[in-house]
Amino acid sequence: MFILFLTLHSFVRWILLLFLIYTTIKAYAGWKSGKEFSEADRWLGHWTNTFAQVQLTLGILVFVKSALAKYFWANLNEVALDSEATFFGLFHMVGMALAVTVISIAVGSSKRQKEDQAKFKKLFQWFLLAIIIILIFIPWPFSPLASRPWIRL
Ligand code: HEM
Repeated sequence: MFILFLTLHSFVRWILLLFLIYTTIKAYAGWKSGKEFSEADRWLGHWTNTFAQVQLTLGILVFVKSALAKYFWANLNEVALDSEATFFGLFHMVGMALAVTVISIAVGSSKRQKEDQAKFKKLFQWFLLAIIIILIFIPWPFSPLASRPWIRL
């Protein structure tokens, strides 16, 4: 079960990043061009938020099964701050939960705006923040914090 959840968690990261980056670029273009906020724009924000929630759920499932996370919480006094256990047991979880919250705020706050330009602007600003947080806390193969494959097969 752990490997299945981890594989899905690794894969959904790409779907989420695609939606997030595409929607952010569209939101920026819409904001700057004065375009109307269409049903398609609302749809993109909605699905980005949905994939973020799916990734959060998968993250929680992986977290409760993860030997690394368990090791971290069982050995709080001994684990080194720069270890993989600390990254997955604490930093990755907190950073990503924050990013998913920011995505929810983006969609909610954009929805509450009356003007189309303000809708695009809110979506763009909050999504950009979420992208930055997610890029920092993904365990990229080159990351100094923790390194994992580009794709898990
Ligand atoms: C935007 C949200 C998230 C993204 C993009 C993301 C991305 C990733 C990626 C790419 C991996 C490496 C997968 C692999 O080894 O192939 C990973 C591992 C992991 N993630 Fe996430 N994650 C997110 C949210 C979360 C959350 C909210 C939690 C905890 C509640 C979590 C817990 C974990 C754990 C525990 C591992 C490693 C498990 C292990 O190897 O023992 N993730 N995550």
